[in-house]
Amino acid sequence: MPITTCVFDAYGTLFDVTAAARAAAAEPGREALAKKAGELANIWRLKQLQYTWLRAVSDAHTDFWDVTQDGLDFALEATGLTDPELRERLLALYWELSAYPEVPDMLADLKSDGLSTAILSNGSPDMLKGAVDSAGVAEFLDAVLSVEDVGVFKPHKSVYDLVGKRFQSDPKEVLFVSSNGWDAAAAAGYGFTTLWVNRAGDPVDRLPWRPDHIAADLTGIPQLAGGL
Ligand code: LAC
Repeated sequence: MPITTCVFDAYGTLFDVTAAARAAAAEPGREALAKKAGELANIWRLKQLQYTWLRAVSDAHTDFWDVTQDGLDFALEATGLTDPELRERLLALYWELSAYPEVPDMLADLKSDGLSTAILSNGSPDMLKGAVDSAGVAEFLDAVLSVEDVGVFKPHKSVYDLVGKRFQSDPKEVLFVSSNGWDAAAAAGYGFTTLWVNRAGDPVDRLPWRPDHIAADLTGIPQLAGGL
């Protein structure tokens, strides 16, 4: 079945979640952070995601901004960097994460090929608006879908249902793209055609489902979508 709709995860897939710690570390007076920026960014991301899964399975939803702050507080303490001013700076930078460099052209190509495009993300609508606007990609997206419409985080099935509700699409005509191996796997289990963006060369997640396609970045997506 030809692909009609390309749906993207947001954080880590279109937007570089390590950019906040990296940008803050480059600012004057942040020598302590500069030494640990990579470690802080990794712990922040890992805890943020763990908290989404734990809140989903324990029926204790809160929005992604809350778990982003909780993950950061854990990471700051774990790295010995607890500092209210740094915390505020990192959170402010999270609202304007840069997109990966290939994102605008890739989305523009999909649109000129006549495909529908969307984000499907754990992010709250206001966070996603901040990221989409600061990356300048709003004009290339037909929809920005947030888990806040269903009140539970990925990989709950009701999140993936949002795509069919918005586009009246069959799952197989959807190419779902995520850099999160668990998200790509769960989306494959749901029935989407899936691409895992594996920038780091990580192993495939050991889950009951596997992504249909794997790529090192987003550049080949228009070609892939057009050839399926
Ligand atoms: C998202 C997280 C999983 O954007 O990165 O949904």
